Amino acid sequence: LSSAPVLAEESATPVSQPAISREVTVLFGSQTGNCQRLAGSLSRKLEEQGFQVTQSSMNSFKPNGLKKVENLLILVSTHGEGDPPDNARAFHEFLYSKRAPGLEHLRFSVLALGDTSYEFFCQTGKDFDQRLEELGGQRLYPRVDCDLDYDEPVAEWIEGVLQSFQERLNPSAIATEAVKAADKAPGQETSEYSRSNPFQAEILENINLNGRGSDRETRHLELSLAGSNLQFEPGDSLGVYPENHPQLIDEIIAAFGWNPEEKVPFNKKGDEGSLLDALKYHYEITVLTKPLLEQAVQFSNGSQLQELLSPDRQQELKEYIHGRDLLDLVQDFGPWQAPARSFVTILRKLPARLYSIASSYNANPDEVHFTVRAVRYQIHGRDRYGVCSVHCAERVQPGDTLPIYIQNNPNFKLPASGDAPIIMIGPGTGVAPFRSFLEEREELGAEGKSWLFYGDRHFVTDFLYQTDWQRMLKDGVLTKLDVAFSRDTEEKVYVQHRLLEKSRELYQWLQEGAHVYVCGDEKHMAHDVHTALITVIQQEGGLSPEDAGAYLEQMQQEQRYQRDVY
Ligand code: 2AM
Repeated sequence: LSSAPVLAEESATPVSQPAISREVTVLFGSQTGNCQRLAGSLSRKLEEQGFQVTQSSMNSFKPNGLKKVENLLILVSTHGEGDPPDNARAFHEFLYSKRAPGLEHLRFSVLALGDTSYEFFCQTGKDFDQRLEELGGQRLYPRVDCDLDYDEPVAEWIEGVLQSFQERLNPSAIATEAVKAADKAPGQETSEYSRSNPFQAEILENINLNGRGSDRETRHLELSLAGSNLQFEPGDSLGVYPENHPQLIDEIIAAFGWNPEEKVPFNKKGDEGSLLDALKYHYEITVLTKPLLEQAVQFSNGSQLQELLSPDRQQELKEYIHGRDLLDLVQDFGPWQAPARSFVTILRKLPARLYSIASSYNANPDEVHFTVRAVRYQIHGRDRYGVCSVHCAERVQPGDTLPIYIQNNPNFKLPASGDAPIIMIGPGTGVAPFRSFLEEREELGAEGKSWLFYGDRHFVTDFLYQTDWQRMLKDGVLTKLDVAFSRDTEEKVYVQHRLLEKSRELYQWLQEGAHVYVCGDEKHMAHDVHTALITVIQQEGGLSPEDAGAYLEQMQQEQRYQRDVY
């Protein structure tokens, strides 16, 4: 009976899983602050259950420390074309480099934030999950990928991770001392209002910043925070819940042949309201995603939608989805047998939009200002409107309210010292947070020098907040201002051209410890500005391109190079 000894041995040590320690490392990679906030709430829950938690941004974690980590929880978002957030990039690179250690001793789980309307949905989370396994790590709990409406899946992941820990804990390894629930994380407001419980802020001002004849419309809105207890710091963002365009709603309802007054559920809990209100306030109708189309198939009596979803037509599907909305879907894939009550449940929740705050709380207590450019364009033969920007531009006036919340952005903060020089690069609406920065420095009497690079199309009509900058220059709050108006001259000039023109002085500021901030368009501007900064450092510091890159990388590590890009 050759199996007998094995059985005996098994019954002698009835342990199915090795006991694990109560030390947990929580790492987040966060661009807008969501993952950081979620990491904070995860850590508090772990501590309440007696775990010893080390929480840090991936940026400030020494990757070699991984060798000593037994339990690792990762929360990370994805940007652009599947890219990691700025403060996750170095750690991501490290794990894929030859320096990455074997991780046979490691247990891990990954929470990935993303957006299903992007092709590389949750790619960074997927990368970490896959790479940690390749390096020998053992998955403690399966990765969870979240779409914009992440509250529920996040709660499930946290619950699952906690349970998985409990199951593996050695019952004799009693918690040394249940750590008391930590105080609220720094920056977390004491207000009852939040992303899931927005404040109805009264509009005090809503003006067009562009001059007559401009081809752009940029609104400056001032909202009252009175009675909300909401506060913020320069660099933080404002979350605004928009309403969908009434005309688009009407056309969708008509195309489906629905009744606008029919009662339908407007959330996952099953709360009900009229179809009209559900489409106005609660559901996203301007974006198509692959998961949405996959679910819509059940309501379509035609076969074309099913065909478009076949695996060999991925590229075509991607092209179809781009720039189209629910009205296109209804019109292109009938006939439909789609009762409103069931159909709305496959729609995503209408997400809030984030805007960089353009005012300082200290300078304007109980107010918040923001800047929004109305997005209007034509594609696929129809006029299209940015949901929130056009709502703000066309459909709200002083006296109306907007549902808002404050989103703390720990990755875009003024230097701790008011004496540190700051360089601010913000063309277009990217200039908004710098109004907040300078108002704050003025209010606090900070004496560090400051340099603003601004750009837009035309000097006469598009110089946002021109009078503010001029006053600040005069009062010495703003030390230097360089502008690039791209369509006033034969050749286009952009902010990065001004950076290159001023390379010597710029480098001098960097050597003096200046902090550099970039806000605005990610795909083109922020990329080109990054390249220009490397050129400046290379040229003026006499460095190789690699060393100039490392210089900037080092600045990023020290949080002296921060970006708020979208
Ligand atoms: P353009 O529209 O004339 O090309 C704000 O939108 C300003 O940013 C505009 O002047 C716009 O110029 C400019 N801009 C466009 N692409 C840019 C890029 N890659 N880098 C910097 N600025 C850019």
